[in-house]
Amino acid sequence: MKCMMYEFFQGFMAEYGHHPYYVVVDPDTGNTHSVLLFNSNAMEYSTFTLPDGRPAVTLRTIGGILDFHIFTGPTLEDVNKQYAQMVGLPAFPPYWSLGFHLSRYGYASTNEVREVRERMKAMGIPQDVQTLDIDYMERFRDFTYDPVPWGDLPALTQELHNDNLKLTIILDPAVVIDWDNYPPGQRGKDADAFIKWYSDIYIPSDQDPTCRDYVIGYVWPDTKTVFPDFFKPSTKAWWKEELNIFYESVAYDAIWIDMNEPANFGTNLDKPFNWPSELPDWSLKCPYTHWDSPPYPTKFIRVGDNESGRLSDHGMCMTVNHTDGVKNFMHYDVHSLYGWSETDATFKALQEIFPGKRPVVLSRSTYPGSGKYAVHWLGDNTSAWSHLKMSVIGMLEFNLFGLPMVGADICGFFGDATMELCMRWMELGAFYPFSRNHNAIGQTEQDPGIWPEVAEVSRFVLNLRYQYLPYLYTLFHAAHMHGNSVVRPLFSEYPTDLTALDVDDQFMWGTGMMFAPVLTESTSSRNVYFPQGLWYHSVPGFLAATGPSTVLANAPMEAILIYVRGGAILPYQEPSLTTVESRQNPFGLTVALDESGSASGELFWDDGEEEHAMSETYFATMSFAANSLNLVVSNNPAPMTGLNLETVRFYGYPADPALVTVNGENLDPSQWAYDADYSVLSVTMSAPLDQDVAVVLS
Ligand code: NOJ
Repeated sequence: MKCMMYEFFQGFMAEYGHHPYYVVVDPDTGNTHSVLLFNSNAMEYSTFTLPDGRPAVTLRTIGGILDFHIFTGPTLEDVNKQYAQMVGLPAFPPYWSLGFHLSRYGYASTNEVREVRERMKAMGIPQDVQTLDIDYMERFRDFTYDPVPWGDLPALTQELHNDNLKLTIILDPAVVIDWDNYPPGQRGKDADAFIKWYSDIYIPSDQDPTCRDYVIGYVWPDTKTVFPDFFKPSTKAWWKEELNIFYESVAYDAIWIDMNEPANFGTNLDKPFNWPSELPDWSLKCPYTHWDSPPYPTKFIRVGDNESGRLSDHGMCMTVNHTDGVKNFMHYDVHSLYGWSETDATFKALQEIFPGKRPVVLSRSTYPGSGKYAVHWLGDNTSAWSHLKMSVIGMLEFNLFGLPMVGADICGFFGDATMELCMRWMELGAFYPFSRNHNAIGQTEQDPGIWPEVAEVSRFVLNLRYQYLPYLYTLFHAAHMHGNSVVRPLFSEYPTDLTALDVDDQFMWGTGMMFAPVLTESTSSRNVYFPQGLWYHSVPGFLAATGPSTVLANAPMEAILIYVRGGAILPYQEPSLTTVESRQNPFGLTVALDESGSASGELFWDDGEEEHAMSETYFATMSFAANSLNLVVSNNPAPMTGLNLETVRFYGYPADPALVTVNGENLDPSQWAYDADYSVLSVTMSAPLDQDVAVVLS
């Protein structure tokens, strides 16, 4: 048996997240299985080839339980579902969070955000979310805002809300120890909310006397910090209360939890890189214990980019304690769960702050099961073509990890993006499940309005995204209900196609749409691989290729190549500048015919933000066969009341029909148009979607 192995975890670096999971596809049979080593200790792995040519993997963990789970498939989607059902089904994102998010580190003031927002509006670029990084805080302290350049943050929040936008704000775990001048910290201390040394013998001799046995570190603020122990019930209660109190002054809509590995600056070094120069050198130093200096140094210590040469580099000491109130856990054993624990605490807190609503929590650190709560971005990338390409792979991986709401920082975080890179990145990023442009402090602006050329392309691609959001939303519903992936590699659909197995620069939304972005500089064409079947250009709908075949496709600067798979019915809505507006617009269907002249699809709909209850949701199946399109409402029609199906576009339709009926009524011939060159039939109608719809072509 020949195997293709896809490994989806890192071997020698301390990463943002930990997913000790690999997937094996047998290209002879398409049979797929996967293996999870459900273990949160430090680990390393190697992949290699045995002398007889078979692929192999070695996993080494330095603690915990050897808790292996094998998912037997037999298809990749089966594996995805089995995996997600075991680690926790993905959160169902509210509809607005599928809109475009704009962010940067380094906004100077509320007025700068207003300027950027005005630019987006002036350029007519869709946007649903404005995100604020640590700039808004006073001295980088959580649950504060700077009184001078950010003094009118509540007013800005209101303005965004008036424009139908949402606000995401960032929070870091690190809490300053300036107890007297920082009430959230003092309240945390009262709740005894912070991580402690595992034993008093590890408390450093220079411990600040006000800090009990807490572990003290240093991150962004200009004051030393402690770190919440999010496993602890009293910490969760305190965190929720702080989120609640802050919400009273800034009515945020979503929380971004960053630095939650947890990151600490300068661990074991003389001092953190940002340590105040006027102070004597200091840093968090981990004791020389069995845990902090393990007898088997993992690759991260031996060969990784590790400044201090220790397991705790850039992070927390291993010899510290976490507790869930009943049991104690050493950081050595639960390091990889820290981000997960903060995500869990934050998600559940937001459920109480926004009763009945689906929370949005964007987390940097993730672990198997984080998808139940988290949206994820792929971390600090660089404005480089290689990172544009890598983002496709990262996005596909997180869909295997049961965390489908994922995307990279569009246009890149570190470094200055060129116009061309940013344009290509907007073209790709418009189709990340989580679509956010984010930039680092000190880098030149890269919001999509800053270059007129990028603005025009962004308007076009984001309009396409907004148009097909009903399809994307339906995919997210399936992910939430069953654990399906949202974005998929081609081999998910064509596992015995050896060429498809190697394609890592194209991807699919569900089973129906395929994207082939341009990922290299100065490129105006690219090879696109089309697996078995018919593939149509998403616009204007003529046949692009019959697969299996590789086609050199024109890809001018302003275009991302998007194809609809023959056999798919994709629901869409006319786009608008926000999802609040687009959700009111008429619906349409793209019906792309396969070789037998058939197609099928699904449409899920609800109010977009309430907690998911099957009884409150609309579901319809669509099928086209023997010249008849049938949409059948199979669950509560109410959420669709007032919304109509107004256009249906048949791709690959062979001839101009003599007659078109909708629900038994003849349409006037002016209501359809047939383009014989493209084999595209466009039909207009007004059919309420809270009832079954039948369109017959004859
Ligand atoms: C690190 C995060 O990865 C990045 O996205 C953010 O901008 C900075 N922290 C500043 O908060």
